[in-house]
Amino acid sequence: MASELSLTDVVAGYGRAAPVLRGFDVEVPAGKIVCLVGPNGAGKSTVLKVAAGLLAPREGAIRIGDREVTRQGPQARLAAGVSLVLQGHSVFREMTVAENVLLGGYTLRDKAVLAKRAAFVKEVFPVVADRWGSLAGLLSGGQQKQVEFARSMMVDPKVVLLDEPSMGLDPKATSTIFDQVVRMRDAGTAVLLVEQNARRALETADLGCVLDLGRVHISGPARRLLADPQLGELYLGASAPLKGHP
Ligand SMILES: Nc1ncnc2c1ncn2[C@@H]1O[C@H](COP(=O)(O)OP(=O)(O)O)[C@@H](O)[C@H]1O
Ligand SMILES: [Mg+2]
Repeated sequence: MASELSLTDVVAGYGRAAPVLRGFDVEVPAGKIVCLVGPNGAGKSTVLKVAAGLLAPREGAIRIGDREVTRQGPQARLAAGVSLVLQGHSVFREMTVAENVLLGGYTLRDKAVLAKRAAFVKEVFPVVADRWGSLAGLLSGGQQKQVEFARSMMVDPKVVLLDEPSMGLDPKATSTIFDQVVRMRDAGTAVLLVEQNARRALETADLGCVLDLGRVHISGPARRLLADPQLGELYLGASAPLKGHP
């Protein structure tokens, strides 16, 4: 079966500057969490922008299932099943949780479908159900992130793209967020997860991919990447001393 989402040989960047991605590949299979790791400024958010149709690649191809969507913009990508949750906070604080979540379903014309999706996301994200009528601004940072997750799931996406969802959260909220990412996968949505909290993200993910210098440095089962000693030193913040350097 084709992956839900694939980027092949992608070259992409900004303006006239040298490209940030220089032949980048990633595949997000159905039912899997793929974690994208890499140093600050490596181009992780750029990968998500290219996947969501916010940035057109200079070269390469993007496919959703077996359909090529390289030249399609963000609305068409969303309609085809790719939903993006941006870095930082994007809830409307003066609106209720319900209004924030239902915004994600603005393309759903059929009221019955909308109601069914709302019931579904309330099941996946209990805090969304509990605080349905509250102003979103009254929720904690971690709860607001779950409102964003719920909003992204309204269209019944094939893949969600999550850009550093644990950023700025305390350890307990971070834990909840990673649990909810697993619930999204178990609810049938593949996930491409970008995280600065690389070790924790790889412990949660099925597959991992390390981006460095515009290309895939290494990819494979997340467990294997976690066990790779070289990766630990370079990317995972391990404190093991470098061999041969007393
Ligand atoms: N809108 C933009 N215009 C110009 N350069 C950008 C823009 N966004 C990101 N960049 C540059 O692209 C590179 C990769 O950025 P980004 O994808 O945000 O990295 P990461 O998410 O891995 O930290 C950086 O050098 C950054 O400065
Ligand atoms: Mg980023």
